[in-house]
Amino acid sequence: MKQKIKIVQIIIFIFSISFPFSANAMTVEEIIKGRKAMFSENYQNAKKISILLKSKKIEEAKPLMKKISDNYKKLLDYFPENTQEGFKTEALPSIWENKDEFNALMQKASDDMIKLAKAIETAEDLRAVQKELMWSNCTACHSRFRAPH
Ligand code: HEC
Repeated sequence: MKQKIKIVQIIIFIFSISFPFSANAMTVEEIIKGRKAMFSENYQNAKKISILLKSKKIEEAKPLMKKISDNYKKLLDYFPENTQEGFKTEALPSIWENKDEFNALMQKASDDMIKLAKAIETAEDLRAVQKELMWSNCTACHSRFRAPH
């Protein structure tokens, strides 16, 4: 009898922990396509930021910086082990061999966008500060973790 109760408890426990996850679990295709879409959106927004800052539209550029920063944070969850191949991914195996470093670069890229939103208020050279806090992070990561093309 006791044994039976234990088994039922275990089954309930397994259900309760796995159900919320499986309910919104994404397929490999959704994850790879999802991360590509977020990187593309970031690129579009980064280009918009450059254009806005050329005409000193600082306040209009800030929400786009926040958006890029938020996307980078979401992207931290878009590189699970089972998404190393397929769906035209350009992600290199080095990501999974150096996951901590990759995540640290992603987090830095996110933090730098928040710093950029602050820096543009006082920066003399808007181009230089964008290079330092936005574009350099793209290159730093792509050069190691994205296939050249
Ligand atoms: C921490 C790492 C990292 C940072 C920072 C980063 N990228 Fe990427 N990017 C990647 C990886 C990895 C891929 C490949 C994703 C895939 O194909 O699965 C990628 C893919 C892309 C793509 C192609 C998306 C597609 O449709 O295939 C574009 C465009 C892009 N990045 C632009 C940028 C720009 C612009 C920045 C900076 C503003 C940037 N990325 C910052 C890692 C990064």
